Amino acid sequence: MTADTTAINQMMDQFDGHHSVWLFGYGSLIYKTDFPYLERRPASIADWTRRFWQGSHDHRGTPEAPGRVVTLIAEPGATCHGMAYLVTPEVFSHLDHREKNGYLRLAIPIMFEDGDSVEGLVYIATPDNTAFLGPASEQEIARHIARSTGPSGSNSDYLNHLASALRERGWHDQHVFDIERHLAALRRHT
Ligand code: SIN
Repeated sequence: MTADTTAINQMMDQFDGHHSVWLFGYGSLIYKTDFPYLERRPASIADWTRRFWQGSHDHRGTPEAPGRVVTLIAEPGATCHGMAYLVTPEVFSHLDHREKNGYLRLAIPIMFEDGDSVEGLVYIATPDNTAFLGPASEQEIARHIARSTGPSGSNSDYLNHLASALRERGWHDQHVFDIERHLAALRRHT
């Protein structure tokens, strides 16, 4: 599949005719809200886990030297915490552009922290997209992040903002916190 998913996402018609739709964010969408929303609520999704396995050609790296950003990987029994935003459909032209490097806009059940749930949308970069990098140890990922930068800033800032946002909310994510720890150790030794 091509890395630029904008055209595919614009064909997504599941919520056509709806005045608003819930979008679940689990990466930069938790802390970088450069789009209008009607409401925001802490939420989670079941059977998916957050991993720094997606290449970033357009934000935290370049096509020649991609950075590493998060996507969701299916994992039965896992829970991924994040932020849900109630948005109007117009917002997706901006978000489809922002998330164009391999992310597909897919329907997903979203659970709010108070126990309510709703069918909404999430951007997932599936393993068949050409920018997918796949697994590596947390230490290797930290080394990769330490040397990467792109038009939206350094890859380290992406990781550190995400780790801080998760910690502030009390959401434990061993993968993200291990990478953060390795990155801090690299900084101390350079
Ligand atoms: C998301 O935050 O939900 C998608 C991945 C990203 O933009 O970092």
